[in-house]
Amino acid sequence: MLRRIQQQLTKTVNFNSSRARLYLVIADFASQIPLGAKVFDAGAGEAPYRALFQHAQYHSADFTKVDKLYAAPTYVCDLAAIPVLDEWYEYILLTQVIEHLPEPLDVLIELRRLLKPRGKILITGPLFYEEHEEPYDFYRYTQYGLRYLIEKAGFSIERIDWLEGFYGTIGYQLNRIGRYLPWTPHNFQQTWERIFFPPWMIGMKALFFSLSMVFHRLELRHKYTVAGYPKNYVVIASKH
Ligand SMILES: C[S@@+](CC[C@H](N)C(=O)[O-])C[C@H]1O[C@@H](n2cnc3c(N)ncnc32)[C@H](O)[C@@H]1O
Repeated sequence: MLRRIQQQLTKTVNFNSSRARLYLVIADFASQIPLGAKVFDAGAGEAPYRALFQHAQYHSADFTKVDKLYAAPTYVCDLAAIPVLDEWYEYILLTQVIEHLPEPLDVLIELRRLLKPRGKILITGPLFYEEHEEPYDFYRYTQYGLRYLIEKAGFSIERIDWLEGFYGTIGYQLNRIGRYLPWTPHNFQQTWERIFFPPWMIGMKALFFSLSMVFHRLELRHKYTVAGYPKNYVVIASKH
C-alpha cells in the first residue's frame, strides 16, 4: 500500500507536460507517414516513440555512451558518421538530441545525406533545460540558432514552433525548485538555521511541487504562447 502511494507520488511529481507535448507532435508526424515508409530515429535512446511507427519501417541509431537504459538500436554509431547509403530514408526524427552534439551542423548535413528528396525531418531541442546526459551536453538553442543551422545544412523549414507553451515552462521550473531546494540540517550553517530552515524548506518544496503540477496540467489544457518562452522548439524541415 505504502509502496503504491510512493509510486503514484513519484509519478505525479515527475510528470512533465513537455513529454506529453512531444508525444503529440511525434504522433501527428507519424500519422502522416505512409504505410511501409522508411523512418530513421537518430539518437533514439530508449526509443520511446517507436510504437508510433508500427506501420512504417523503423530504424534507429545511438552511440549508447551514456550511463542509462537503451533500447537496442539498429546502428550503434556516432550520428556524425552513420553507416547507411545516401537517400535511404523518407522520414527522420531527431528529438532532444541536437543539444548533445558537439558539431550539430555536421550531423544535420549527415542526416540530410540519408534523406530522400522531399523527405522530412522532425527536430526538437531545448531553449533551456538543466545539464543532463553529461558530459555529452553542449548547447541550448534559440529559434534563430536552430533556423540558421538547419538551413545551413540545406533543409527548407516548413514549420518552427514552441513545443510547449509558457505554462509548461513554468511547470518545469517550479518542479526543479521543489526538487533542488535543500532541506536537511547539514545544509545550513548556524544552529538556529538548522532548526528553522528544514521544516520551512519542506513546506516550500511541497508548495513548489503542487504549483508545478497545476501549471503542467494547465499546459495540457491550453498552450499559452502570447508571452513568455518555451522550454523547447519543434521544427519540421524538408529536403528539396
Ligand atoms: C536526451 S536523449 C533523447 C532520446 C530520444 N531521442 C528521445 O526523444 O527521448 C539523447 C540521446 O542522444 C544520444 N546521443 C547523443 N550524442 C550522440 C551522438 N553523437 N551520436 C549518437 N547518439 C548520440 C544519447 O545517447 C541519447 O540517447
